[in-house]
Amino acid sequence: MSMQDDEKRLAAQAAAEVVVGGMTVGLGTGSTVAHLLDALAARSLDIRCVSTSTATEESARRLGIRTESFDRVDRFDIAIDGADQVAPDFWLVKGGGAAHTREKIVAASADRFVVIVDGSKIVDAITAPIPIELLDYGLESTLRRLAAHLDGPVVRRDVPVSPDGGVIVDFLGSVDRPGDLASAISATPGVVEHGLFGPELVSAVVVANGADVRWLDATG
Ligand code: A5P
Repeated sequence: MSMQDDEKRLAAQAAAEVVVGGMTVGLGTGSTVAHLLDALAARSLDIRCVSTSTATEESARRLGIRTESFDRVDRFDIAIDGADQVAPDFWLVKGGGAAHTREKIVAASADRFVVIVDGSKIVDAITAPIPIELLDYGLESTLRRLAAHLDGPVVRRDVPVSPDGGVIVDFLGSVDRPGDLASAISATPGVVEHGLFGPELVSAVVVANGADVRWLDATG
């Protein structure tokens, strides 16, 4: 196991410790969340979980973690997920696995959104690529309008459409102010969701550097 994977596991295990029986739990997507599922399964808690992707859903079920449809849950006590980048002001980039739309809905539905990362994900400033999910309807027009409004190219990613039928693209230009970029992307008709997560969504970041695990409070 690599050092980076060890760090993912340690961050995930630390976050799993704050989950207690009776909670509703939103489960993110990715290799760090895979460790979270292992840690939760090992604790055999009576919890109700909703997954943000088919991959998480299948892994959770295999490990004996009870998952439900999001139709049956309208809020979470906690949601736990990985990230691709975490900036000092707690702006995040997510969507390296193309699951950011569902991940953002789950994060926004949680009383606490806890982000679990290895040390490599902590950055001085957010940079491209910024994942974006687009409606397939009018795709060429949406791409043209995005390119006209944003300062940089937007390219289609060579991945399947999302479970909700959305096309995944990446903004590859410069990111001077994440909030301004997030607003510009969101204001473009045809955009389903982008992978910039604002600090208001984030409760805490659990970051592992080697064997050192720290909780960074994002609410202050
Ligand atoms: C999924 O679309 C992403 O948002 C992941 O949560 C993010 O890419 C982190 O993935 P890893 O835990 O695999 O690094």
